[in-house]
Amino acid sequence: MPGTVTESFVLSERDGAIVVVLLNRPQQLNALSDELMDELVGTLADLDRDPEIRCIVLGGSEQAFAAGADIGELAQASAIDLYYQRRVERWDAIRSLWTPLVAAVSGFCLGGGCELAMSCDLIVASETAEFGQPETGLGIIPGAGGTQRLTRAVGKATAMDVILSGRRLSAHEALQAGLVARVVAREAWLEEAKRVARDIAEKGPVATRMAKESVNRAYESTLAAGLEAERRALYLAFASEDAKEGLTAFTEKRKPEFKGR
Ligand code: COA
Repeated sequence: MPGTVTESFVLSERDGAIVVVLLNRPQQLNALSDELMDELVGTLADLDRDPEIRCIVLGGSEQAFAAGADIGELAQASAIDLYYQRRVERWDAIRSLWTPLVAAVSGFCLGGGCELAMSCDLIVASETAEFGQPETGLGIIPGAGGTQRLTRAVGKATAMDVILSGRRLSAHEALQAGLVARVVAREAWLEEAKRVARDIAEKGPVATRMAKESVNRAYESTLAAGLEAERRALYLAFASEDAKEGLTAFTEKRKPEFKGR
């Protein structure tokens, strides 16, 4: 297939201004092994450096987005092994990406898989999707943001239920709770995520970056600090050539041609 780069655990395919990145470890339900995570973060970082790529879709398979960290690896590892694998830095790298990231979730989305989906900017889910943080059943806890991001997304009551009892949220529950942006029919999970990505990719890149940063700020600061940051981000966006183009194009009743400048 032209434009397809096949690496062992991550497949990526360019489609105009968007790229679809799929986890590819089907026998293990895309369990996030050390190698897979390395490859994933490397791929995402490379894509993030290409200004022509305006949005990334991150998905798994129809059966599983990802069933969590690789339990076999964890069972063998010491705490110091995990520390030296610099796992935390990988998650920070995903969090630091500039390019908007849409998670396309079908099937199991558990443990680190759920944390990976929550690290994306928004989640499009198939009605088959199941979200959960089953770590306490293994004697550990979510360690890639699960206790923090899930709680912020769905509130304490539901987060405690999911994290302490191991209950999985259906796609519709996740939508209602605010974890997921859209739920679509089983067969549409990837197409709908690509549609969202194309919509994002059409917008002004500088503005999109500023907007993403500002929304994320809402989770990390007080309202006053967030509002202040938003105003500064607006002026920066306003100073871009894209803002001139977008505003002018509207008045001239034509489609804007954004350059990301
Ligand atoms: N790590 C490593 N391997 C995993 C895995 C994980 N997190 N999740 C699934 N697998 C493997 C299974 O070991 C099995 O491999 P095998 O065929 O060689 O035995 C294969 O994927 C299929 O899983 P299986 O359990 O047979 O499928 P299922 O449909 O019966 O159950 C799940 C699916 C997702 C409910 C179940 O696999 C599960 O509970 N996985 C672990 C989820 C978890 O606790 N994640 C947090 C990890 S910290």
